[in-house]
Amino acid sequence: MATEKIGILTGGGDCPGLNAVIRAVVKGAAKKGWQVLGFKNSWKGMIDNETIELNDRSVSGILHRGGTILGTSRTNPYKSEGAVAKVRAAFVTHGLKALIAVGGEDTLGVAAKLADEKMPVVGVPKTIDNDLACTDFTFGFDTAVNIAMECLDRLHTTAESHNRVIVCEIMGRHAGWIATYAGLAGGADVILIPEVPIEIDHVCEVIRNRHARGKLFSIVAVAEGAKFAGKDVTQEEKLDQFGHVRLGGVGQILAELIEKKTGYETRVTVLGHIQRGGSPTAFDRVLGTRFGIGVLNLIEKGQFGYMISLQGDKIVAAKLKDATGSLKLVPKEFYELSKIFSG
Ligand code: F6P
Repeated sequence: MATEKIGILTGGGDCPGLNAVIRAVVKGAAKKGWQVLGFKNSWKGMIDNETIELNDRSVSGILHRGGTILGTSRTNPYKSEGAVAKVRAAFVTHGLKALIAVGGEDTLGVAAKLADEKMPVVGVPKTIDNDLACTDFTFGFDTAVNIAMECLDRLHTTAESHNRVIVCEIMGRHAGWIATYAGLAGGADVILIPEVPIEIDHVCEVIRNRHARGKLFSIVAVAEGAKFAGKDVTQEEKLDQFGHVRLGGVGQILAELIEKKTGYETRVTVLGHIQRGGSPTAFDRVLGTRFGIGVLNLIEKGQFGYMISLQGDKIVAAKLKDATGSLKLVPKEFYELSKIFSG
């Protein structure tokens, strides 16, 4: 009997823990007697037939490495003529019994549509933003939070030495999970997230109150997607293939406003891709590994159109459509918690 083959691709922004998933899939598949074919740079690899044979040797030594050995991109096959047909053809050309799409709302949104069109696709949820529904956590988030927390710790000492306000811009396009967790863990005095419009006068009042109490420095953690009166602050208006603008700049605007309104010297630090690079934490390595093994079980059971997910401490299946239908935002009660430590 010919060996069965499965495909795997990683899409969207890279994320610490992707290599842990790839390694687990390859090692777990070998135990089932399946071969694994990697597609390079997300859906682009399926469209352009760019592949990598994955085996025990190619996944050796990658567990601790950030990024993805498969490469990634924000390619949307539904945005270019004939691309979906090429994706379908790739299943036939390579004799794939299933495809594993590892990604966030965009990549898994494509996976859900392909599964609807009867292609054997399953998903693994990934995003540092942690905003994907139907899973308590995505891998990459814990690493990003720990990096951002360490940066906040470092900003504290320099802010305190200079009696400055430091605004730290943290990733988080639609949801403020990283800013909320890192802000809580790193003792930020103000946390601002996309879910709650920025009230600049309130922010300044909190900082002034600290000064009145003799705390002559403040740390403001702001998610890049936080908005003034509902408007995104963007670096450019151009949209990517999934309709997203490039965010960035809210920290600078905020810092200027704080300095102008309070008179306190203010600086800004943008963490950017530092939060996505480098080695995954133990939590993300283990979650990626559990997801990689779990998704193979979905294939075995023929649960196409599903992704693997974490609910409580259990690895369970969730419908891709449910996971990509709406985003998981920071609940109001959780965000409110940060106010207890504000100022
Ligand atoms: O979706 C993950 C994310 O890191 C967001 O937090 C951020 O807005 C975006 O990706 C940045 O994307 P890029 O790497 O394409 O600039």
